[in-house]
Amino acid sequence: MNQIKCIGILTSGGDAPAMNAAIRAVTRTAIYYGFEVRGIMRGYNGLILDEIIEMKTQTVSNIIQQGGTILKTARSNEFKTPEGRKIAYDNMRKAGIDALVVIGGDGSLSGARVFAAEYDIPIVGLPGTIDNDLYGTDTTIGYDTALNTITWAVDRLRDTASSHERLFFVEVMGRNAGFLALNGAIATGSEAAIIPEIATEVDQLAELIQNGFRKSKNSSIVLVAESEITGGAMGMAERVKKEFPQYDTRVTILGHIQRGGSPTASDRILASRMGEAAINALIEGQRNVMIGIQNDALVYVPFTKAIRDDKPINRDLLKTIKILSI
Ligand code: F6P
Repeated sequence: MNQIKCIGILTSGGDAPAMNAAIRAVTRTAIYYGFEVRGIMRGYNGLILDEIIEMKTQTVSNIIQQGGTILKTARSNEFKTPEGRKIAYDNMRKAGIDALVVIGGDGSLSGARVFAAEYDIPIVGLPGTIDNDLYGTDTTIGYDTALNTITWAVDRLRDTASSHERLFFVEVMGRNAGFLALNGAIATGSEAAIIPEIATEVDQLAELIQNGFRKSKNSSIVLVAESEITGGAMGMAERVKKEFPQYDTRVTILGHIQRGGSPTASDRILASRMGEAAINALIEGQRNVMIGIQNDALVYVPFTKAIRDDKPINRDLLKTIKILSI
């Protein structure tokens, strides 16, 4: 029904744990069904610079447990231009690649959408980002591992926070999405999560201060999602220092540590299932869809929907944090 013989695979944007598990699943499933597979190095830049390698079953041996991405990754400015995409398309055709599997976050899938529309290429996306901010999927590849890393780090901060009876603002990643902060706060028993989704509705810090953070004199840990809207952990701490100098405040920015590490079982399984689903989707003639997971069922989400900027957070979780931190 379709003419696909050779499938190209690339990882793009910020890396996420279990991207390698996804590369492995895509490669092996494609080979299982008789396709040839090419790996494109360094995201869309690899298409523009013609850095394309052959993928065999052995190329992806022993990588399911490795963080990062063996294909490397990049954010490509050139691919944002029509001229860059033309070079990318020409190299893709020259390499005999008929379809693409793109693993990445919203920027990468936005690029895929434009490329697919311009050149009528079948492209299937996999949601690879620790931010969990893609619409139409309950979770993204790498999110669970990042949450576990946050839990590991905040547990250690709790020891020292509690010894010194300090207030810690811990900044977590999320690029304007509060999923890591919200669920990270629950997993670590934090006193609060400050997230961009509700930052314009309520002054979350003022609310916390009014509640006296915690009635008992003990440590307090507040997870803050990185974002200009929240002002980040630094912004929060500066406000507290000015308005409530009685608090002994410290700031920790977890940063890129959240992107590394061996993926959790949950992320490996998700990436493996989604990788297989990407090839099934291409066989079925699907194009311009991201593989999502909803209630444990794999689904196809059109790119236009997936990259919508309004994936809802579960607001009930804010109440859970509040109740559990009395
Ligand atoms: O999108 C993934 C992410 O890790 C965000 O959480 C963060 O804002 C951003 O990437 C950091 O990007 P970079 O690796 O370019 O510093």
